[in-house]
Amino acid sequence: MNNGVRDGMERPVVRRVELAELAQVAAVERDVFPQPLSLADLTRLWLDPATSYLGVRQEDRLAAYLGFQVFGATAHVISNATHPRYRRRGLATLLLRRGAVEARRRGARWLMGEVRTSNVAQLGLLLRLGWRVVGTCPQFFADGESAVVVWDRV
Ligand SMILES: CC(C)(COP(=O)(O)OP(=O)(O)OC[C@H]1O[C@@H](n2cnc3c(N)ncnc32)[C@H](O)[C@@H]1OP(=O)(O)O)[C@@H](O)C(=O)NCCC(=O)NCCS
Repeated sequence: MNNGVRDGMERPVVRRVELAELAQVAAVERDVFPQPLSLADLTRLWLDPATSYLGVRQEDRLAAYLGFQVFGATAHVISNATHPRYRRRGLATLLLRRGAVEARRRGARWLMGEVRTSNVAQLGLLLRLGWRVVGTCPQFFADGESAVVVWDRV
């Protein structure tokens, strides 16, 4: 089946991120986000029944992940990232598609999130998947950067 994932890589399998893998999530967060979630933050979130963390492994390591929380009809994305070594291979696309299925299974009717206005990669990814920009939140992030609010039906 062609799900958009590139040739020349292990067949990606989406599954739940285990508690023991959160240190790998924290390491990617530190590498890629100005305000990364700590291992303690991630553990607290992971233990919350509202939270789902989905991941894909490649070469025996966590290559990409997506975290979201379902509150009634809304599934709110906490963060998603792909380790720099595994980018542009369709992993984030796969996780967002599977995340939408999981969110719907859990009763959500839409997904939403806030993306830094400078984050061309994430905005390109989401718009290609059919997400819509529904507004902006000025100075949303602690460093003063504004957020684009994005939304998709699941
Ligand atoms: C954004 C991010 C998650 C994308 O992960 P990825 O696994 O490389 O994404 P995909 O391979 O599924 O990309 C699918 C499409 O998204 C768009 N896209 C992805 N990265 C892009 C980039 N750097 N610039 C422009 N468009 C991009 C493209 O349309 C791409 O399709 P293409 O490769 O055929 O051109 C990754 O770059 C990342 O981890 N960034 C840092 C963390 C982050 O910003 N997370 C989002 C905020 S929570």
